[in-house]
Amino acid sequence: MNHNTETPVTVIGLGLMGQALAGAFLKAGHPTIVWNRTSSKADHLVAQGARLAPTIGDALKAGSLTIICVTDYPALYELLGANEVELEGTMLINLTSGSSSQAREAARWAEQRGTRYLDGAIMAIPSAIGTADAVILHSGPQADFAAHESTLGALGTVTYLGADPGLASLYDVAGLAMMWSILNAWLQGTAMLRTAGVDAATYAPFARQIATVVAEWLPGYAEQIDSGSFPAEISALETDTRAMEHLIEESEAVGVNTELPKLLKTMADRAIAAGHGKEQYPVLIEEFGKLRKD
Ligand SMILES: NC(=O)c1ccc[n+]([C@@H]2O[C@H](COP(=O)([O-])OP(=O)(O)OC[C@H]3O[C@@H](n4cnc5c(N)ncnc54)[C@H](OP(=O)(O)O)[C@@H]3O)[C@@H](O)[C@H]2O)c1
Repeated sequence: MNHNTETPVTVIGLGLMGQALAGAFLKAGHPTIVWNRTSSKADHLVAQGARLAPTIGDALKAGSLTIICVTDYPALYELLGANEVELEGTMLINLTSGSSSQAREAARWAEQRGTRYLDGAIMAIPSAIGTADAVILHSGPQADFAAHESTLGALGTVTYLGADPGLASLYDVAGLAMMWSILNAWLQGTAMLRTAGVDAATYAPFARQIATVVAEWLPGYAEQIDSGSFPAEISALETDTRAMEHLIEESEAVGVNTELPKLLKTMADRAIAAGHGKEQYPVLIEEFGKLRKD
C-alpha cells in the first residue's frame, strides 16, 4: 500500500473497530490523535504512540482528516452536534454503519456546519483492518476522496463509488444480501444431502463450483437488466419454475425446510403471471424492484 505517512489523522470512537482503525494508522507511521467517550479505551493505543486529545474539539483540530466510527448515527450526532464542537474547516470521514438516507442526511448536516464529508462502509472485521482484505467503500465528493486516498490506504483496500453519499451504505447492504443468499442456498442443499448421509464437507466443493459458474453469468445478465431485454438464451423462466417445483417436492419428501424453495417459486410464478414465462431469469428484477406490503 502506498500512502503518505506524514499526514496526521484523528480517530474518534475507539470501540473494537475504531481501535483497529487507529492501530492501522499508527502501524503505517501516521501521527494519530484519538478520542473516545470512555478514555481508557485509548490506553494501549497511547502506549503505541497515539496522542489522546483532551476534548473531542481538540481531536478534530489536530488531524488533517478525522475518521469517526461509533455505534450508530444518533451517537455521531450526540458527539459532533454538541454546541462546543467546532466542525468548520474539518474533513470528516464517517465509517459508522447506517442506512443510505442516514448517510445523505449526515452529508447535508455536515455541509451546513462547513465540514467536508465522505461517507464510508467497512466490509471487514477489526482484525483485517490494515490488510488488503479489508474492503472499505467510500462515497461523497470525488475531490475529497482523491485528496485523502493515499492516507486511507493504510486501512485496507479503499474504493470510491461515486458522489452520492448514500452509495457506500447501499453497496454494503447489497453485499450482505449476496452473502446471505449464497449461504442460505448452500445450507438448503446441505440440509437435503445430509438426509442421504452426505456431510457438509463433501457437498461444499460441488456447491462452490456451482456458485462460481453462476457468478460468471452475472455480467451477461447485468447487460439484460440494463437494456431491459431478457431473451431466453440459456433457459426460459417457465422451465426454471418446473425445476423449482421439483426442489419444493424433494425438500418436502426428505423432510427439510421448504421456505426458501417456496419463496423462489412464488416470485417466479408472479413474473410468469405478468407474462414473462418465456423470458430469462433476470426478468425477475421487476419483482425485486417493487416494494410488496403483503
Ligand atoms: N466490529 C465489526 O466487526 C464491524 C464491522 C464493520 C462495521 N462495523 C461498524 O463500526 C461501528 C463501530 O463498531 P464497533 O465494533 O467498534 O462497536 P463497539 O465496539 O460497540 O464500539 C462502539 C463505539 O461507539 C461509541 N459510542 C456509542 N454510543 C455513543 C454515544 N452515545 N456517545 C459517544 N460514543 C458512543 C463507543 O464509545 P464508548 O467506548 O465510550 O462506549 C465506542 O467507541 C459500527 O457502526 C459498526 O456497525 C463494525
